[in-house]
Formats: sequence, C-alpha cells, structure tokens
Amino acid sequence: MFLSFEGIEGAGKGTALERTRRWMAGRGLRVVLTLEPGGSALGRELRACLLNADRRIAPEAELFLYLADRAQHVREVIRPALDRGEVVLSDRYADSTIVYQGSGRGLNLKVLAGLNRLAVDGLWPDLTFLLDLPPEMGLERARARNKALGLEIREGRFEAESLDFHRRVRQGYLAWAARQPRFRVLDASRPPEEVFQEIRRILEPLLPPASGG
Ligand code: TYD
Repeated sequence: MFLSFEGIEGAGKGTALERTRRWMAGRGLRVVLTLEPGGSALGRELRACLLNADRRIAPEAELFLYLADRAQHVREVIRPALDRGEVVLSDRYADSTIVYQGSGRGLNLKVLAGLNRLAVDGLWPDLTFLLDLPPEMGLERARARNKALGLEIREGRFEAESLDFHRRVRQGYLAWAARQPRFRVLDASRPPEEVFQEIRRILEPLLPPASGG
C-alpha cells in the first residue's frame, strides 16, 4: 500500500504521518516513512539545493530538481519497498509539483502532468490525504514551529513566499483533489489527534484484520 500526504506549510503532515506510521506498525505492518524532496541519497543532495532560500533558482530549473528527486525516489526507495510488501507513507509526492510549480509558480499544468508521468513511471498512491487549512493558519503554525526550533522564517524555501502564493497553492490543491478520486480531503484546522482519527477511520477497512482479536 502506497499513501501520500499533501498540504501547505503548517498543515500538520509531520504529525499525521508519524501517528499513522506508529498505528500501522502496531498492527504488525512493515512501514516505510519517506519524503520528497530527499527520500533517496541523490534526493538528499537535491533537497539541500532546493531548500537553500539564499539561492535563486529559476522556476523551470526548480521543477527539474523536484522531478529528478522523484524519479530516483520511485526507483530506489518506493517501488522496492512495495515489492517487499511494505507500506509506504510519503510526505509529499507528485501532487506537490502540480500545485507548487503549477498553481504557485504558474508553470503549465498539462506539461507538469506529463513530466510527472515520466518521473513516477506508473506508480501512483492508492490514497492521497490532503490536509487542508487556511494559509494564514498554516503559516502561523510553521512560524511557531520554526521559532521553537530556533530557525529563521526564511529558512524554509516557501515559507518566505507571500500569503498570496500560499493561497494559490491551497486553491490549486483543492481544485486538483476534486478531479482525482484517490484524494481524501481532511480539515486540518482541527486538533492533530482528530485529523489522525479520521485518517485511521479511512484506512482501517483497507488493512488486513488485526491479529490477536
Ligand atoms: P519541506 O521543508 O519538506 O516543507 P514541508 O514541511 O512543508 O513539507 O520542503 C518541501 C518544500 O518543497 C515545500 O515548500 C513544498 C516544495 N515542493 C515543491 O515545490 N514541489 C515539489 O514537487 C515538492 C515535492 C515539494
């Protein structure tokens, strides 16, 4: 089973992923938690380039770095794990390119969809959770988290972008999700525990029955 988690900054993907991983592992499943960008060895180098906010990268160049990361991630990490019978949970996947590079940066959506097809080589998630919330709220959460970690706000690549950019990304996600049956849109303005419980309710019927009663 392959699940991806999407959402704007501060939507709570990290918490949702970790809770889901723990719950599934507790059910005896072997679970791989991975992320984009940065899920493979090559990807970790690309991630360092991409998230360095001091470097100015042309939108088209940025796009190819995310795609390179994804192509390697699919072939080196995700597909082998699925072949071993493991559950893969990915923090972001191809949909991030559609909304950040498309709705956010303004690149052509049809071109992006075609390039994504090449990168993912037919491998699409069984389900994609979109953690949706207003960007004002997400950015405030991201700011609080960065402050707690002693990071500057500009250290996240897109955290320094305008509110307008994040509004476009959010709308892009909602419009894209409405066209893809694999999406489950969750109201992420609720407490993280409630969001996780909804994820659990959605996934429960898809898992093998819990052993030992
Ligand atoms: P990260 O620090 O992991 O952010 P988050 O915690 O919000 O996931 O950085 C990933 C950033 O990269 C995030 O701002 C979204 C962006 N991104 C794209 O623009 N396109 C993509 O295809 C992917 C995978 C991520």
